[in-house]
Amino acid sequence: PGDKAQPGGTWGEAKLKKEPECHMQLDKLCPNRNHTVLIDTNKFLHDRIVPYRGQHVWDSKHVKLPPHYPGNSKESRWAATQRALHGLMRHRGVSVGDVEGAIKTYNQAHNKDWNFDALRMYAHESKHETDFSKVIFKMANLALRLPELIQHPIPLLRQNCNLAITLSQEQISCLLANAFFCTFPHRNASHHGSEYSNFPTINFSRLFAENSPRTFQKLRALFHYFNTVTEDGTKPNGLVTFERICISSSEYPEWNKRTENLTNLCVYDNGFIEKEGKGMLQVDFAADLIGGGVLGRGLVQEEIRFLQCPELIVARLFTERLSDNECLKITGVQTYSNTLGYSDSFVWHSPHTDNTKRDEWKRRYCQIVAIDATNFKDSKLQFTETSIKRELLKAYVGFRNDPNIPIEYTPAIATGNWGCGAFKGDPMLKALIQMMAAAVAQRDLAYFTFNNKKQAEELQRMHELLKIHKMTVGKLYNLLQDYCEFSHHHKVKNVFKYISEKINSSNL
Ligand code: AR6
Repeated sequence: PGDKAQPGGTWGEAKLKKEPECHMQLDKLCPNRNHTVLIDTNKFLHDRIVPYRGQHVWDSKHVKLPPHYPGNSKESRWAATQRALHGLMRHRGVSVGDVEGAIKTYNQAHNKDWNFDALRMYAHESKHETDFSKVIFKMANLALRLPELIQHPIPLLRQNCNLAITLSQEQISCLLANAFFCTFPHRNASHHGSEYSNFPTINFSRLFAENSPRTFQKLRALFHYFNTVTEDGTKPNGLVTFERICISSSEYPEWNKRTENLTNLCVYDNGFIEKEGKGMLQVDFAADLIGGGVLGRGLVQEEIRFLQCPELIVARLFTERLSDNECLKITGVQTYSNTLGYSDSFVWHSPHTDNTKRDEWKRRYCQIVAIDATNFKDSKLQFTETSIKRELLKAYVGFRNDPNIPIEYTPAIATGNWGCGAFKGDPMLKALIQMMAAAVAQRDLAYFTFNNKKQAEELQRMHELLKIHKMTVGKLYNLLQDYCEFSHHHKVKNVFKYISEKINSSNL
């Protein structure tokens, strides 16, 4: 952590492992059955990033790419898209109306129901900072390069499979430019039972309609990203990996029997996961549909991270809803923007120059893991064995180390009040759950309380007590079950108090 976030007093004694210091050298980049690489790995050996060629596939296992849209109308959908996007490049002074007209050319079913009020407001209000028509020109140009940049089918990361995709930052920028221009077919309907109802949305149409100060700030971040990735000199030239990780039921820990002691915990009462947790495995407080409301109204931890690092948004193109035993790990994204505030106070602040080093696969040393907590509409429901087990499993699948990498090469986890904001979880219970999952995964934790000093002190004290009493995961699990039982019958005291009293009154 940087100077500003030094934990108060003795809180940070443990030395937390970080990348690149704890990095284990990677094997050479090579595709396999579970890892699709969208660039040519032979050319990559000679430091060249060139799209990998393959046969396009139009089926339920792959992303349906707009240039391959089958159809028998006179003009193909992609030809219409090309014509419309070329139209945006013909003259300077493109208006939002032109963009709207272009997008509706190949999305005719939405002629009436899509509106572009937010984009209109953005173009108007951002005149002093963005040359709207210039950026649109560059984005259209980038979107049109899709057939050249993506020449290999992109697998869908469907439920219950361990699959990874590595692609270049340039390929990502092209896919996102297509998302901006809403070119992805079959991705506009989200009603139950529709083909992609179990996937997040990817076309930007909803964002353009959502006229609000929040959307204005989101569009500032997104336009800054597109401007950066289309400018000679600032175009990113590395790779990013998206990996869906799924553990099978035979690998689920039997929590009540686990004998591990807790690992180290450093509590920070200020600082941010993304900033002060640099080099660690950073937790994305995710929705089961990755990215949550980033292309809609949402603007909390996950959405903010996706706006700072828009390459994350491309995960929405191919990541099916996460199940309880799954997470998505993303390695190598770049940070493009500095932002301030949170939720309604969120603002795009300034460009961020990301100087993070890159690994052998040219990925920035930045690892993020998306784990979705349960949304407790009724907060009492979290104090049940079923709920606790579910959250333990989710945290564990996110924290678990790749079995091929020795533990000394594994960075600590940077987390905080996962599931305790929009999803209304109890921060004390969630902290204990994350400590238990980290213990079984044998990793240390950095815990950011988001400026809550009192919480930081209480958490630190709780952890110390548990360490002094050599608490094991299994014993703690059983204590939590006792607490659930107790809290159903008695006026509830908080779970830390309950556990401290139990520990102090017996010889656990
Ligand atoms: N660093 C450290 N802590 C943070 C940070 C940060 N950058 N940002 C927020 N916190 P929330 P959830 C703390 O509500 O409850 C999204 O829409 C802060 O104390 O984002 O898991 C997703 O897409 C905050 O109250 O996470 C999901 O749909 C707490 O973390 C849903 O929200 C929780 O942040 C997930 O909600």
